[in-house]
Amino acid sequence: MVTEAATGTHFLDPLSADEIVRASTIISEHLGSPDSLRFLLVAALEPRKGAEATPRCAEAVCIDIGTGLTTEVVADLEAGVVTSVTERADVQPPALFEEYERADATIRADDGWRSAMRGRGLSDEQIDLSFIHLWPTGNFGSRWEMEHRILKGIVYLRDEPEDNAYGRPVEGLIAIVDLAADCVLEVVDELSPAPAISSLRFDHDHGGPPREDLKPLDIVQPDGPSFTLEGHLLKWQKWQMRVSLHPREGLVLHKIGYEDSGRLRPICYRASLAEMVVPYGDASVGHYFKNAFDSGECGIGRLVNSLELGCDCLGEIVYLDGVVTDERGGARTITNAICIHEEDAGLLWKHTYRHPDERGTQSWLRRSRRLVISTIATVDNYDYGFYWYFYQDGSWEHEVKATGIIQTMAIEDDDPQVTRHRIGPRLAGVHHQHFLSFRLDMEVDGPQNTVYEVDTVPLPPGPENPYHNAFTAQATPIRDESQSGREVESAAARHWRIANDSISNPIGEPTAYVLTPGATVSMMAGEQSMIAQRAAFARKQLWVTAYEPAQRFPAGDYPAQSEPGLGIPAWVAENRPLEQADIVLWYTVGMNHLVRPEDWPVMPVQRAGFGMKPWGFSDRNPGLDVPPPDHCERDTALGSSQHAHHSHNSHC
Ligand code: NI
Repeated sequence: MVTEAATGTHFLDPLSADEIVRASTIISEHLGSPDSLRFLLVAALEPRKGAEATPRCAEAVCIDIGTGLTTEVVADLEAGVVTSVTERADVQPPALFEEYERADATIRADDGWRSAMRGRGLSDEQIDLSFIHLWPTGNFGSRWEMEHRILKGIVYLRDEPEDNAYGRPVEGLIAIVDLAADCVLEVVDELSPAPAISSLRFDHDHGGPPREDLKPLDIVQPDGPSFTLEGHLLKWQKWQMRVSLHPREGLVLHKIGYEDSGRLRPICYRASLAEMVVPYGDASVGHYFKNAFDSGECGIGRLVNSLELGCDCLGEIVYLDGVVTDERGGARTITNAICIHEEDAGLLWKHTYRHPDERGTQSWLRRSRRLVISTIATVDNYDYGFYWYFYQDGSWEHEVKATGIIQTMAIEDDDPQVTRHRIGPRLAGVHHQHFLSFRLDMEVDGPQNTVYEVDTVPLPPGPENPYHNAFTAQATPIRDESQSGREVESAAARHWRIANDSISNPIGEPTAYVLTPGATVSMMAGEQSMIAQRAAFARKQLWVTAYEPAQRFPAGDYPAQSEPGLGIPAWVAENRPLEQADIVLWYTVGMNHLVRPEDWPVMPVQRAGFGMKPWGFSDRNPGLDVPPPDHCERDTALGSSQHAHHSHNSHC
């Protein structure tokens, strides 16, 4: 029996390695222990909110590699039994690591593909050294996409295995491989520009002579960091939350709360990356289908890196391991999967007072520090860093850092560069966008919240605005799901206020947090495009839905080769009421990527994100009680009276 009392396991903890093995064993035995059974996902099944006393359960997505049939199974880890089995002949879960390996070998052994490669003038040696990038295909209504479990293999040339293959795409040559039948269904071979002669590399021998003017920068915390981590419970500067790694969503924060006068005030029950999609904007045969759902088609959590001290994060670091299935019934531990540390974050607040006498100026200031919780996932060519930041003024943020290698295409020297941009000889980067949907199950001071859309607008001229200067904040509640899809409007500084209208702060206002968008972009794929219909969540920046535990993934549970309309559009069609309700926010961060030469051969970090800020959650600046740095206030007070007098007098 695995019980919370016996193990100290919290009901929101991820599965341990032992629990993954136990769940897999229970499930495999229940299904008759077939050799062809594989586990794509084995994760803790979170109890419905308010039903925490339910037995600890695991959910698994299994696939029979012989038939390609997907089965969803739930196992009760306490009773040791399977409680539900659902066969899903209608879906395609992400490819297993072994399916990727097999698909690579299948393509290389295929006569049709090899002869197409030879037809491009390539030798057997070049063919064997080439790199095959396997892509999810999307769904454009073809027989392969509707009836087979497939990936598309795109090929790149290398002169040696360490080459940066993406510099030499073999344009227009694509192998469609059936993962269940282990065969190449079709080789697409379209006349296309020849690959570039060579590629730029970025490993240490290829960056030019290293700079010699960098002096050491050490971050020293002689007494250690100011947070504590007990199991998955993290506490820092009045904040607390539970931190874990989910095999699909990656970093998950549960029960984000803020301690206020000895009372823990809830803010967000669960925050995670729920889906992401990267639509490419070029219609040629090797690119039109590129719409990777990097979370739902690949699994961000199972792709996170093992982080290294002093490299991925700098300073006094505490790590959490992640544990995922090894796909054959065992557990795979990703050491140092999550990095937790503190950073200096510049100024928290400051004011300088100019005394109207010989005392001069006096300054009050506090330095800001932030808590950083992060992971980095590598999804083929791209690398994504996910950073949650918490601050001492009650605000928190998410920042995505996109880096790694862009998608390339071979072009002629006179390419008109309409849907791509030249980055080198015979080489272009394709225009694309990244949309990342964050699920925020809010509970500001309790489970019942209302979301208001707030626009800043000028008042009409009239008796209340005789000088044409007056403006106001117009707050409109999002009353039901028919009003749910919202878009950013930077001219109105539009933001969304998540308020608890039944709780008042000491000055009589409902307590609230506001979600403020960062720089973002609209989806350029047209409404009629398959991707706009399969990833409808990305067409608006904010959706609000009523809490329903089964509604977790905004493009549906299985976006690979999916039908249009799954997820958000289906949910909001229910038109549930949203005022003073248990609501979930789906905020999409959009990154526009018009590729530039500086993004090659490896891309400097590109940032995007959003912020959460208290709005009447406190009745004053929550950072007033942060102690001043040792010497700062004493030193500046009563100092440099000469300069102060000069400025004071010159002002008038
Ligand atoms: Ni990009």
